[in-house]
Amino acid sequence: MLIKIATDLNESDVTPCEIYQQRRRFLQSGIAIAGAAIGGSLLSPDVSAALQLGKITPGPFSTDEEKTPLDDVTSYNNFYEFGVDKSDPARYAHKLVTDPWSVSISGEVGRPGTYTLEDILKPHALEERIYRLRCVEGWSMVIPWVGFPLADLLKRFEPTSKAKFVEFETLVDKKQMPGQRRRVLDWPYREGLRIDEAMNPLTLIAVGLYGDVLPNQNGAPIRLVVPWKYGFKSIKSIVRIRLRGTQPTSSWTQSAPREYGFYSNVNPGVSHPRWSQKRERRIGEWRKRKTLMFNGYQEQVASLYAGMDLKKYY
Ligand code: MTE
Repeated sequence: MLIKIATDLNESDVTPCEIYQQRRRFLQSGIAIAGAAIGGSLLSPDVSAALQLGKITPGPFSTDEEKTPLDDVTSYNNFYEFGVDKSDPARYAHKLVTDPWSVSISGEVGRPGTYTLEDILKPHALEERIYRLRCVEGWSMVIPWVGFPLADLLKRFEPTSKAKFVEFETLVDKKQMPGQRRRVLDWPYREGLRIDEAMNPLTLIAVGLYGDVLPNQNGAPIRLVVPWKYGFKSIKSIVRIRLRGTQPTSSWTQSAPREYGFYSNVNPGVSHPRWSQKRERRIGEWRKRKTLMFNGYQEQVASLYAGMDLKKYY
């Protein structure tokens, strides 16, 4: 993929995910992938104690579709802070120090502050949720996430009645995140949800996958997983959560507003301006599948958008 600096970018040059052929080229090149961080993470005793990995229970809404192999989940990633190639996160993300870590909670909340990772994790029982993830570019995976509802986290900080949206930001650190030395996006990576989307029981804060801590390339130590929206809404390595009265922007909407809207719900009826969203290729399969409305989570989320023109609010 041709990388340009932000000043040279047109909307048509930017995609949050690279084309599928890139994976094939990568696999053909036979490059050894740096092993996943699974199990190898050096967590402090406090964080290990707060993260109750031994007590993961099965959560609701899991699909029984075949899971994408761990190797694919941890080697075929989008994490532009580490580079735009699918193999870059697995290759470079081990440099990211995820413990100690803190998350600032601000805006329309009764209990703002900067909380350590231990503070964030401690009260939450962990669940496994096997969710589909559909990338805007046409590939999908099925991933057994480990986490807890975002709603449970937000409620602890007492959102005020003025909190209508939630904004998230990823760490900025050019030393640890070599992809940030290029202005592919206007860093930090930002995302946003409407408060009812954030409070929906499907919306997950993930701290692990496949029963273990999150590998760095998948967004350690905490990330968002919003399974009915295109993958780029599921922001990784979060350091800031701000509750707001007005709609925030998101990195991809900012860089290409005609292509990536604030909502970005998986919707086979609304094409991306440069390609259809009707079908998808599940990683590991060759025959394409039909993409489902809201990625198959209609029952849980369709009511959030009742009466809205989803062609306008894409
Ligand atoms: N979060 C950050 N901070 N930076 C990114 O580049 N990429 C997004 C999303 N979250 C991205 C991010 C995109 S495009 C996708 S498809 C998913 O992460 C991929 O998640 P995965 O690599 O764990 O499958």
